[in-house]
Amino acid sequence: MRSVIAAASVISAASAFPWVATQGGVDTSLMKRQQSGGSNPGGPQSCPFNPNHVPAAPYNFTRYPYNGAQNGKAYVLPVFRFEHHSNKHNSGKGVGGYQVPAPGDTDHYFVAPKSTDIRGPCPGLNAAANHGFLAHDGITTFNELVDAQQNIYNVGYDLAQLLAVLGLTLTDGDLVTEKLSIGCDATTRTSFNPALTGSEPGLDGHNKFEADTSLTRK
Ligand code: HEM
Repeated sequence: MRSVIAAASVISAASAFPWVATQGGVDTSLMKRQQSGGSNPGGPQSCPFNPNHVPAAPYNFTRYPYNGAQNGKAYVLPVFRFEHHSNKHNSGKGVGGYQVPAPGDTDHYFVAPKSTDIRGPCPGLNAAANHGFLAHDGITTFNELVDAQQNIYNVGYDLAQLLAVLGLTLTDGDLVTEKLSIGCDATTRTSFNPALTGSEPGLDGHNKFEADTSLTRK
């Protein structure tokens, strides 16, 4: 733990005071920072490209109800629900305790990511994409994110929306297309106009949606 704290303090010191890196005894191998430009890790040139984008697998709530969250819209109490419109727009019931994927729901069975699929720093979203609750290639949408969080993990509707909004805004997803890369910079696929928006680095974006601790990463 002491070496971790020492390492952590060296890293923060080095980025704040670059001359630290030149001091004797400082292990500079710890100071690899993710640069999301060009062909660097997380950059557009090294970002997997799937030419045949397929959205998340459709839900069959009659057979596999999960939490019934659909199309990311607000929950409408049954008494106020108008037949022709609101039935299609449900938030989750907020009740968990069911198996995911449901036995027999082959559309949501695990499929390993291919070389053209984007995965990123969030194990929750990576697993959702592996199971088709998010687009398998990792280019997802606001609605897919809000529905998947509720249907898979029973995340509350408001938190699911908040995280999706943070994902879209903090890590520069696209507010027009409502698309977000769950990993590297896929601006050519998320942006409504790359010339106007500039780079949309996705969840890999450095210093965007990021914490200084990790369960699994240095
Ligand atoms: C729209 C929803 C979500 C977004 C935008 C999101 C985004 C992220 C990002 C950017 C990180 C990396 C943070 C870092 O490197 O410091 C992360 C980490 C993580 N996320 Fe998510 N997340 C979402 C939902 C979820 C859900 C639903 C779960 C679990 C049920 C989850 C579990 C985790 C865990 C455990 C980590 C820590 C991984 C590690 O560092 O070891 N996330 N998330």
